[in-house]
Amino acid sequence: MIHLGNLLLYSLLLLSFSFISTHAAKFQIYNNCSYTVWAAATPSGGGRRLDPHKTWRHKMAPGTAGARIWGRTGCSFDRNGLGHCQTGDCPGGLSCTGWSQAPNTLAEFSLNQGNNLDFYDISLLDGFNIPMGFYPLNGNCHGITCATDLKDECPKDLRSPGGCNSACTVYRSNEYCCYDGNCGPTKFSKFFKQKCQDAYSYPKDVTSTFACPGGTDYKVVFCP
Ligand SMILES: *[C@@H]1O[C@H](CO)[C@@H](O)[C@H](O)[C@H]1NC(C)=O
Repeated sequence: MIHLGNLLLYSLLLLSFSFISTHAAKFQIYNNCSYTVWAAATPSGGGRRLDPHKTWRHKMAPGTAGARIWGRTGCSFDRNGLGHCQTGDCPGGLSCTGWSQAPNTLAEFSLNQGNNLDFYDISLLDGFNIPMGFYPLNGNCHGITCATDLKDECPKDLRSPGGCNSACTVYRSNEYCCYDGNCGPTKFSKFFKQKCQDAYSYPKDVTSTFACPGGTDYKVVFCP
């Protein structure tokens, strides 16, 4: 026997569930740098030229996993949006269709995962090109930043035009890339961690993933 009250509760649950499962997460991607940044996003795809103080409003489908937002620098595209960038370059030109080339700072996230949580981080595992902030706009969870410009202090062996490589990109060794899934911090990862405490500095850096309730909207800022 179903009581009317239960039926009402059930419909409300169903309603809120369908709300959760259809709500796209909104991202405001804001360029606070003094120079132009060409933002890009996967897997939703796309890219946008952001002159200083411009914002790109982008949506990510619920349940999106393994997503990335990053900035490209030193780009030149023709009228059809074809061309390349000095850092963060990706297939597809202006309207990016795939992952980028290191070195570049990455905002990484997976939406509506277990217990309907979003997980997010700033990763330096592919090196660094632009300072970044990643902030939830609602939900009781906290923003993270890598605001220091690591290019200025990049160790000599990791320097790259327009960026600072991770040690894994340069040396391709187990010590830095953790191919066997079992490795610790190194002098290079400690350099990154010391400057950017919120960010991922080596593959087993477990201190750097953050969570928000599913349905949260976010702001990604270049040069926070
Ligand atoms: C933009 O950069 C300035 C410093 O240049 C800083 O004071 C401000 O907080 C930044 N804005 C955002 C939204 O991060």
